Amino acid sequence: MRDAGLAEALLDWYDSHARVMPWRVGPAERWAGTLPDPYHVWLSEVMLQQTTVAAVRDYFRRFVARWPTVTDLAAAEDAEVMAEWAGLGYYARARNLLACARAVALQGGTFPETRDGLLALPGIGPYTAAAVAAIAFDRPETVVDGNVERVMARLFQVETPMPAAKPELVRLATSLTPEQRPGDYAQAVMDLGATICTPRSPACGICPWMAQCRARAAGVQGELPHKTAKAAKPVRKGLVWIARRSDGAMLLETRPERGLLGGMLGWPGDGWDGVGGDAPVRADWREVGAVVRHTFTHFHLELDLRVAEVADTLPDRGTFIPRERFRPADLPTVMRKAYDLASGAFGRVE
Ligand code: ADE
Repeated sequence: MRDAGLAEALLDWYDSHARVMPWRVGPAERWAGTLPDPYHVWLSEVMLQQTTVAAVRDYFRRFVARWPTVTDLAAAEDAEVMAEWAGLGYYARARNLLACARAVALQGGTFPETRDGLLALPGIGPYTAAAVAAIAFDRPETVVDGNVERVMARLFQVETPMPAAKPELVRLATSLTPEQRPGDYAQAVMDLGATICTPRSPACGICPWMAQCRARAAGVQGELPHKTAKAAKPVRKGLVWIARRSDGAMLLETRPERGLLGGMLGWPGDGWDGVGGDAPVRADWREVGAVVRHTFTHFHLELDLRVAEVADTLPDRGTFIPRERFRPADLPTVMRKAYDLASGAFGRVE
């Protein structure tokens, strides 16, 4: 059962309120027959699974400036891509991104147009497959992210708590997806969730679905979707060693491919992450007296810091990265935070 009136009202709203994004082809251009570059859509959707539109803009611009096509990205060195990804978090996604780019390059550099074809690529799950099929190829696929779940829970006043409500929310979202303009529609629901049907204090007064919204009629829009209480995240404590050689080189380790921050560079640690244990080099280690706090998906981390200036010596673990190649911005966020706190403890390199 499809309520065409709902989709139409939302598309009318989108025609005048679509957000402008560097990867997006707006409703007017789409009307004129322009579809977005599938590479741009895919890349932005993978990035948007990490963080907000505001944070993704700059990452997206840097990626497409450096690798204008999926074939260019496929030819990149792993380490270059990991470094550009640094700060976005969840580094397994960056490795999947490369695996997918290389699979597409092997197929001639063209993305498949269907959800099933996209799903067959490495690292593409149901969300990304539906998003690329709908947005890049105007296929009537239903795209469900956290914004869409919230909008559906409110529009249909779904009282089942999350995550148990997910299948019902997907079914409801699917029931609304139109045959006409499914790409604009998918983006319109997400924009509605991001700008009007926000988690707190939704702006119901200007919502194109206000009249049909059951949660609004019942006055419970701010309470939906309900959430099952989450277990508190445990706090893990550990320390990292930050050594600088007299020529300014920094002692870093490439982390194992699998696991936390897989494949990224990091400071050797004492095993808080299941990696390593002992100091990486014999030195006169000093305490910095500051704690790095960082939250991962499953735990909060509190890291102590030890710093040392070392002579030209062979470390037990890790590699000295020469001063001119060491870029703190290429480190994952927790490691960059550690560097920011520790760097004041070092003297100047002459
Ligand atoms: N969030 C994730 N993908 C999006 C898109 N294409 N448009 C708006 N918000 C989004």
